[in-house]
Amino acid sequence: MGGKSVYILGIESSCDDTSAAVLKDTVLLSNFIANQEVHKTYGGVVPELASRAHQQNIVPVVDLAIKKAGIEPEQLAAIAFTQGPGLMGSLLVGTSFSKGLALALNIPLIDVNHLQGHILANFIQVPDVEKSVPKFPFLCLLVSGGHTQLILVKDFLHMEIVGQTIDDAAGEAFDKCAKIMDLPYPGGPLIDKFSAEGNPHAFKFNKPRIAGLDFSFSGLKTSFLYFLRDQMLLDKDFIEHHKVDLCASLQRTIVEVLMEKLLDAARKYNIREVALAGGVSANTGLRNAVVQLSEKEGWNCYIPEFRFTTDNAAMIGITGYYKYLNKEFASQSIAPVARLGN
Ligand code: KG4
Ligand code: ZN
Repeated sequence: MGGKSVYILGIESSCDDTSAAVLKDTVLLSNFIANQEVHKTYGGVVPELASRAHQQNIVPVVDLAIKKAGIEPEQLAAIAFTQGPGLMGSLLVGTSFSKGLALALNIPLIDVNHLQGHILANFIQVPDVEKSVPKFPFLCLLVSGGHTQLILVKDFLHMEIVGQTIDDAAGEAFDKCAKIMDLPYPGGPLIDKFSAEGNPHAFKFNKPRIAGLDFSFSGLKTSFLYFLRDQMLLDKDFIEHHKVDLCASLQRTIVEVLMEKLLDAARKYNIREVALAGGVSANTGLRNAVVQLSEKEGWNCYIPEFRFTTDNAAMIGITGYYKYLNKEFASQSIAPVARLGN
């Protein structure tokens, strides 16, 4: 690019986090996230409340991101926004705002697939730290609240889904089981926290048996529910008495399922570069397991920093950067898409 730095503004609003980030090429200059506490009371994200909160947060969050980056809006080369998948009302806020700002600044607009963003989070650099990045082709285990996929990443913008869940996502399994234990939403991080003090082999839950590289988590949730129901006939406070062991055993089971398929995929495609992505890759058990498996198998493994695993705009910005280099721009008539194939 002739040595000239490219400043990209990334905007993410697909679910319940409003986020804006500025990158200078691949280096992150700022990343702000406004979380929506309001959903906690409801045990899940309420779409109507999410879009209203995005509407309130988006201007201050973008303003902060640009100021913290120490640049003027006029220096931006393009605006990258999440086109989908996600909640329609939430996506509309980020999309409309991005269109307006791009028009006002007379700069290109770049549509980003949220899932591709999670994967390319592995390429975000932070100032003064040299981080090694995956080499193509690599396998990415993308695990979030809405998705569980194994992706063969051939290039920044060329990816092939080689396996995915046929029902619940891994994050959903964490969250639904947490709900069964009466933990607040989202339960994944809490299960992670309690697991640290529990025995991962205290209880055994049925693992799904799905052919090929696909996953299934709905059976595990049911088996967890029935197990607790039976135990509570004997001890009505069973959950309270065994909370940490239940969490640790459940987490071990989910992580084992994920690692078994990752290993199958790596063997099938003869790949030694593996990466994690998505909200569930914040999970301590999963991070440890992938590091251990990589050591055993002689793989190089890559895990994004915690703050780049859950929804954030830095990952949208980095994807926007690679699309910018490829001159893949969106028109002003682009619309968000709740369900996006990639
Ligand atoms: O990627 P993400 O922020 O949003 C989606 O695109 O879905 O992922 C959110 C999911 C939730 O299901 C949440 O419970 C899960 O990631 N999660 C975790 C942890 N942190 C977030 N699950 C297990 N352990 C964690 N530490
Ligand atoms: Zn996400």
